[in-house]
Amino acid sequence: MDKKIHWQSLHPNIQRLFQKQERPIVVLAPMEDVTIVPFRKICKRYGADLVYTEFIPAAGLVREVAACIKKLEYQDEERPLSVQIYGSNPMEMARAARMVEKIVQPDFIDINLGCPVKKIANRGDGAGLLKPDGYVENRLCSELNLPPKNLKNVLCAVVDAVSTPVTVKMRLGWDHKTIYVVESMQWFKEWGIQMIAIHARTKQQAYTGKADWSYIKQAKQASSLPIIGNGDLTSAEIVLQRIQETQVDGVMIGRAAITAPWIFRDVINVLENKPPLPLPDLSFRVEQYLEMISEAIPVKGEYKAVIEMRKYLHAFVGNEYGAARVRKEVMQYDRYSDVKKCLENYVLAKR
Ligand SMILES: Cc1cc2nc3c(=O)[nH]c(=O)nc-3n(C[C@H](O)[C@H](O)[C@H](O)COP(=O)(O)O)c2cc1C
Repeated sequence: MDKKIHWQSLHPNIQRLFQKQERPIVVLAPMEDVTIVPFRKICKRYGADLVYTEFIPAAGLVREVAACIKKLEYQDEERPLSVQIYGSNPMEMARAARMVEKIVQPDFIDINLGCPVKKIANRGDGAGLLKPDGYVENRLCSELNLPPKNLKNVLCAVVDAVSTPVTVKMRLGWDHKTIYVVESMQWFKEWGIQMIAIHARTKQQAYTGKADWSYIKQAKQASSLPIIGNGDLTSAEIVLQRIQETQVDGVMIGRAAITAPWIFRDVINVLENKPPLPLPDLSFRVEQYLEMISEAIPVKGEYKAVIEMRKYLHAFVGNEYGAARVRKEVMQYDRYSDVKKCLENYVLAKR
């Protein structure tokens, strides 16, 4: 039987997030080195209802590592904002969450239960928190649907430590034999989690194969918390189809936003039954691209800002005639003024 969400029992920040509009929410996924302030702002301007920081190690935060503290930078126009942290030491995670609360006062604190990278997951962080414990009385914990002990310890420690609503972003499970995403809906509710984003792959799959949304559908039916579906959402049409199939409360978009940040606008249009809009024009996209670099310069320094923004170049410059040559030229520059001149000349030549 489908469970109902008891909105009044959830934190006011969660209630505001969902009750602001009548459609499911559309969320920018956390992505390391991608969801930095200037990119988050652009996605926000294209309509993203919620944006996440990239994941930040609790161990780095509590040791006040400058690079980790820097990742907490944000601007007010990004709100509502979720800060994602990861780690597997309950005390450290609780302390890190308290620091995040004090420094950022985010709308949400999210715990990463999804990172599949070996050196992270194998030490119990990220998706490592989903790895089932071994045996209890000669029976596999995964068969008994027992939550991994440290998963409970970490989540409860963070929930107890802060008054900000705590959410999780998880994978289906550790591998195809240990998928207990449906059972975990009840655990999360009991432990005080307020919202669950599900990337419909296992840790073992990393990014291979296809996201299996049938699990998201089952999890949604079993959950009395809002569910955000994630994985392989590449167009507004696919998003609409997944929402109709699963009845999720929101969708989270990752890689597709890197190549087309206006996907949020397109998805919202489809959900609101509005006609599709044309691609934003080239001069506007170039203006946004240059703005992202200039905003990243004070944070990263000119060289890093120019180099790191190259990953968005394809999206903003596009595929039009002559774009390939311009992209190639821009890739050679490491100074903002050169990139600017090259792109502005391209826009002028296109007029
Ligand atoms: C470059 C990159 C960095 C990522 N970093 C994070 C991260 O910091 N935290 C996290 O929870 N997931 C991270 N992910 C996973 C995404 O949030 C998302 O779950 C995944 O890409 C599937 O969604 P998609 O098919 O829309 O891309 C990352 C993915 C990519 C491609």
